[in-house]
Amino acid sequence: MPSTMIKIAALSTLALTVAATPVPSKTFAKRAAGCDPTKGHTSGYYGPGDKHEVDSNGAQRYYGMYVPTDYDPNTPLPLIIDYHGHGGNPSTQRDVSQYDTFQPAGFLVAYPAGLGSPSAWEGANYEGNAGADDIQFTLDLITHLEEQYCIDTDRIYASGKSNGAGFVGTLACDARANVFAAFAMSSAALYTDNLSDSARECTPAKGDIPTPVFEVHGSADTTIPYYPADQDYLGGRLPAIPDWLNKWASPDRDNAGAPVSTQELGTTTNHTSYALENGNVVVQGILVDGMSHCWASTKYNADWDKKDSTCIAPFDTTPLFIDFFNKWDVNGPRSS
Ligand SMILES: *[C@@H]1O[C@H](CO)[C@@H](O)[C@H](O)[C@H]1NC(C)=O
Ligand SMILES: *[C@@H]1O[C@H](CO)[C@@H](O)[C@H](O)[C@H]1NC(C)=O
Repeated sequence: MPSTMIKIAALSTLALTVAATPVPSKTFAKRAAGCDPTKGHTSGYYGPGDKHEVDSNGAQRYYGMYVPTDYDPNTPLPLIIDYHGHGGNPSTQRDVSQYDTFQPAGFLVAYPAGLGSPSAWEGANYEGNAGADDIQFTLDLITHLEEQYCIDTDRIYASGKSNGAGFVGTLACDARANVFAAFAMSSAALYTDNLSDSARECTPAKGDIPTPVFEVHGSADTTIPYYPADQDYLGGRLPAIPDWLNKWASPDRDNAGAPVSTQELGTTTNHTSYALENGNVVVQGILVDGMSHCWASTKYNADWDKKDSTCIAPFDTTPLFIDFFNKWDVNGPRSS
């Protein structure tokens, strides 16, 4: 047999072998290196003191960690990274968002700590956090967590409150954050996506894939107003939230359809959704009439200590964020 024929025969055998290898379906979770039976973790919340350190950009950084009740080092679970507000810390943010109260199983939740005193996230012009590279820290944290925990690497989500939510907005506008599947924000201080001329530099994190964003805000928020004045706030200039939602829905970014608003969460709420052609809601915002600078909740959360009854809302933000996360993975809409 001439050598070319041998090569062709060998190639076609190879082709057959490749074709016979089952292609993993989209529902087969991508596993992290932490999916290792020797790397067990006990369910519960562990604060930053529990050796939860990451070296990043020359600084020692910390985080808190919630390990869900169904944690098993053989079964990849999705991960939420939840960012505290200005002056907060991992434990205060856990008491605000209460992921483990609303959903004790099914999600790992990491609560990173911002730098400075009072603590803060990159993007706000506060003194104390100048020069922090919190995007690099986020990537280093994800690498570290993937080594330690069994994570479904297709399902990593970002959420946050106030300055932490603004940083989630910064992530949504940075291609380095394409490891995230979706971005959820409460009372977001969107200093870096303020829709001034420089805001055109926003590069939607997901590139050609739509970048899913969800924001919840109170109409009586005087810290980060829903309709801010044309002035600098504590951390910089802010966009009007409806303008910001429209910008995300525009052809420049997610290219979604016309907004649809409903009061299905209560007569004091206005839930505005923008869907893609395939029907998936990719941009959404909820305005809560009369609510101040809070993580909207019907049940007690730590915001109620600092504020007053204006934090009481007719719905809970956290289960809505979980439902939203369940609709997306890193490649786009999840098949149900
Ligand atoms: C608006 O955001 C850009 C980043 O996109 C930032 O450079 C600028 O300082 C912000 N403007 C104000 C007034 O905060
Ligand atoms: C709800 O919000 C949308 C978008 O901002 C607005 O057009 C609409 O008038 C609002 N509806 C109510 C009932 O407030």
